[in-house]
Amino acid sequence: MRVIAHLSDLHFGRVDPTTLPALQSALIAARPDLLVVSGDLTQRARRGEFEAARSFLDSLPFPRVIVPGNHDIPLHNVFARATAPFRAYRRAFANELEPFFIDQEIAVLGINTARALTFKNGRINVLQVERSCARLEQCGPAVTRVIVTHHPFDVLATGDDGAVIGRAGMAMTAFARCRVDLILSGHLHVGYAAPSAVRYSDTGWASLLVQAGTATSTRRRGEVNAFNLIRIDRSRIAVESLGWAGGAFSLTATAGFQRGSEGWSSEPPNRSQHTMSPPA
Ligand SMILES: [Fe+2]
Ligand SMILES: [Fe+2]
Repeated sequence: MRVIAHLSDLHFGRVDPTTLPALQSALIAARPDLLVVSGDLTQRARRGEFEAARSFLDSLPFPRVIVPGNHDIPLHNVFARATAPFRAYRRAFANELEPFFIDQEIAVLGINTARALTFKNGRINVLQVERSCARLEQCGPAVTRVIVTHHPFDVLATGDDGAVIGRAGMAMTAFARCRVDLILSGHLHVGYAAPSAVRYSDTGWASLLVQAGTATSTRRRGEVNAFNLIRIDRSRIAVESLGWAGGAFSLTATAGFQRGSEGWSSEPPNRSQHTMSPPA
């Protein structure tokens, strides 16, 4: 089994400072095999914000896969936005915008979906999708295939269809073909987990879509600060949501999913303590 700690939307520059030491303790206690941060590390892509985010993440002794979000591109500095939108991000978090982690059980690939021209909305393109599938298809059958993007492929918890990543249908068709097991995203500041078949019913394969809320930002959308611990076996994934509860992060929901011949589906409710499914 592998454990991924999935954080998102830290938004350094607008963090609630009381969450940081509690988040650090919770993560160190959880001892994940990998830390994933699905974008929006900063509020306004300022150098000091990136330095604060980097220093916090450097205090956590785990391998990590990080992708940028729309907030990690300068908003007001038009010249920087047009000529080198990821310069500050790269300075803090290395040159690689699409990082890759692999061991005997999981392969985790980041895809950059933030775009300088579209401001808030994200996009994925054919080249990115083909490159990702080629990489994941080289992994053996025992390895669980995971993709990380900032922008979501579904918006079940918010109903804001405009937030779905551009060219999502094209990407999900290809990801079904290369049997992507799990897609981790953020951006909505709301957490949930659900099979992709809810929105993409005709691809022949369902990935599991998992959203993390905002771990540390004061920009909460009706939910407390939260992050996910994802426990991965080849045929079962448990998604635990840990929410801010008066000075510490504690377990608020668990959802279980199983792998079948057509991909991932929810386990019968008796195996899950609480559902993390979106409202009907
Ligand atoms: Fe965000
Ligand atoms: Fe975002």
